[in-house]
Amino acid sequence: MEHTILVTGGAGFIGSNFILQWLRQGAASIVNLDKLTYAGNLRNLEDVADDRRYEFVHGDIGDRALVRSLLQRRAPRAIVHFAAESHVDRSIRGPDDFIRTNVDGTFALLEEARAYWAELDEHDRSDFRFLHVSTDEVYGSLGRDDPPFSETTAYAPNSPYAASKAASDHLVRAYHHTYGIPALTTNCSNNYGAFQFPEKLIPLMILNARDRKPLPVYGDGQNVRDWLYVEDHCTAIAAVLERGRVGQTYNVGGWNEKRNLDIVETICDLVDEMSSREGLSRRSLITFVKDRPGHDRRYAMDASKIERELGWRPVETLETGLRKTVRWYLDHDDWVRDVTSGSYRQWIETHYSS
Ligand code: NAD
Ligand code: TYD
Repeated sequence: MEHTILVTGGAGFIGSNFILQWLRQGAASIVNLDKLTYAGNLRNLEDVADDRRYEFVHGDIGDRALVRSLLQRRAPRAIVHFAAESHVDRSIRGPDDFIRTNVDGTFALLEEARAYWAELDEHDRSDFRFLHVSTDEVYGSLGRDDPPFSETTAYAPNSPYAASKAASDHLVRAYHHTYGIPALTTNCSNNYGAFQFPEKLIPLMILNARDRKPLPVYGDGQNVRDWLYVEDHCTAIAAVLERGRVGQTYNVGGWNEKRNLDIVETICDLVDEMSSREGLSRRSLITFVKDRPGHDRRYAMDASKIERELGWRPVETLETGLRKTVRWYLDHDDWVRDVTSGSYRQWIETHYSS
């Protein structure tokens, strides 16, 4: 077995940040298996495209023959599984792809991982890791005074996206419990940072604010999310991969609960500060729009287990992380123009016109 790790969905937002961070730190090689859906973008990985420690493979995690031959050829010591459909609003409009990739795809990947793992020698078998990257949305919604989600909170997914991730988490758990495959799961709160597709709250608001377009806040804007800077999520995943206890789940969060409206107002102020100040404050662009169906009111993560067991804590505060993120989007107009092409414009038109 080599020291290579197989990353799935590495051309997406979190996966590409993970690969860049991993290779920057001088670690072993990475194979990135990605289908390149609308959310996958090889531009994110331009800096490592010629690195001899990096290989890109274009394909679907559900293509078992491809996954099998890849595992045989590269003999990875771990699989870090990011690949998923990840946007709640899209899952409401069309859940099919979410079931196909998040449930069936994870099942296919687990089956091939199990077959590969069973053939390893004893030492490599105990060293192998399957790390499943999941979300806090599997726990459902919190009331205002409820304690944050912990690893023992009962699952109560409310959107097709959350349900598909919950199903995949259960499969991973069962593959550890039944077959003994050394699996770990991380459940993380909302991420933000460079390379996030501008369908999600923070990049959408930055770009609309930059262009002085309306800022569509769902409902009353009082929904609460717990925000984590993406690079902090990546260090958490690396810590769990190296030191996590097999069979465990780890909640990852930023200890940064914020109402959506507060996030959008902060973004307006940062964009005002960093770009043209002419005209009214960008806060005047905030527009309350029809709420998302079944919109979860509050997410909050208790990340004390990963801190206690693995010594992980986020480095960025929401203030420093948001400032970096706004700067990044304002400085990377070429990337933005690349991803906001036809299919993006079509999504924005369909979703926000109603
Ligand atoms: P993303 O949508 O930006 O990227 C997903 C990537 O997976 C894309 O590159 C896409 O091309 C690829 N992909 C999709 N279907 C595939 C398939 N069938 N086969 C191979 N590749 C496929 O997602 P993200 O925000 O980077 O999220 C990554 C993971 O982290 C997901 O599993 C998500 O559930 C989880 N997560 C995300 C957040 C967040 O705030 N973004 C928070 C917690 C957990
Ligand atoms: P999002 O980035 O889609 O992440 P998630 O639904 O996984 O938490 O949305 C974050 C919050 O922002 C969520 O409460 C919905 C809200 N939101 C808006 O108010 N307007 C928007 O245009 C979008 C995309 C999200």
